[in-house]
Amino acid sequence: MSSIDTVLMTGKPVATALYERLKPRIEVLGQKGITPGLVALLVGDDPASAIYVGSKTRKFEELGLLAETRTLPGDISRDDLLAVIAELNAADRFHGLLVQLPLPNHLPANDLLESVAPAKDIDGFHPFNLGRLLAGNPTFIPCTPQGILELLSHYGITVAGRHAVIVGRSNIVGKPLAALLSAKQPSGNATVTLCHTGTANLAHHTRQADLLIVASGQAGLVTPDMVTPGVVIVDVGINRTGDDSPKGYHLRGDVDTEKMLGIAQAITPVPGGVGPLTVAMLVSNTVLAAERSAGVVHN
Ligand code: GUN
Repeated sequence: MSSIDTVLMTGKPVATALYERLKPRIEVLGQKGITPGLVALLVGDDPASAIYVGSKTRKFEELGLLAETRTLPGDISRDDLLAVIAELNAADRFHGLLVQLPLPNHLPANDLLESVAPAKDIDGFHPFNLGRLLAGNPTFIPCTPQGILELLSHYGITVAGRHAVIVGRSNIVGKPLAALLSAKQPSGNATVTLCHTGTANLAHHTRQADLLIVASGQAGLVTPDMVTPGVVIVDVGINRTGDDSPKGYHLRGDVDTEKMLGIAQAITPVPGGVGPLTVAMLVSNTVLAAERSAGVVHN
C-alpha cells in the first residue's frame, strides 16, 4: 500500500509572513503618533489562560506595540467587571479590548462580551460583530477561524467546492468558521457539516471530510479509523494531559498527529499549528482597529 507523504502545516512561517505584511501598516500609524494598543482582561487564576494572555501580550511587545494585562480576582462581581470594561472602552490608548475566556462560572460571559465596545472587539465575539460576519459583511473576524483560513491559503489547500467537516460548535471557533468556510468568497465556498456533542455517529461524518477541522476540546477524539486517506486536518485542540514531565502536563491536540502521518494529506501539529495564528490575527485585528480609529484606510 502506498503511503502519503503528510505535510506538517506549522503555524510559525504563516504568522511570520503575516507580521511582515503588518509592518508597513504599523509604520504608517507610527508616523501619525499612533501605537496600536491592546488591553487583556484576565479574570481569576486559570493557568492556561494566563499562559495564553502572556503569549499574546509578549508578541505585541516584541513588535513595539502596546499591551497591558489587567488581572482581576476570580470572585469579582459582574457589576465590578462591567465597570472595568466601561473604563477601558473609554481609554483612547487601547484600540483593542479582550476578555480572556473561559470566565469563572458566576460571571455571565454573554452579557460581559456584549459590554465590550464593538469597535474595540478585536476578538470578534460581540453579537454585533458575529452578526456582521453571518451577514457576509464582517468587521472583526474571530482570530482562530481567521487564522485557519490564512493557514490553509498559505499551504495552498483548496477550500472551494470541498466538503469541510467541523467538530465543535463554539462561538470562538466552530460557528464562525462554519460561516467563513460556507461564505460566497474565494476563501470559502465549501460545503460545511458542523458536528457537535449531539451528533450521532461522529465517525460517519468525519469520514466524509475533505477538510476536517477539530475544535472539540477532547484530547485524541479523532482517530485514524475516523478519516479517509488524503484528508486535510486542522487540529485546534490544545489539551493538558497529566504526565510526569517537569511541567506536570503534556499538550495534546484533539487528533493524534503521529497516527495520522501517512494517512492525511496535511495536518497541523499541536502545539505550533493553529496557536501562533490566533496570536497573529489578534495583532492584525488590533492594527485594523487602530487604523479605523485614526481614519487610516489600508488596501
Ligand atoms: N479563549 C480561548 N480562545 C480565546 C480567544 O481567541 N479569545 C479569548 N478572549 N479567549 C479565548
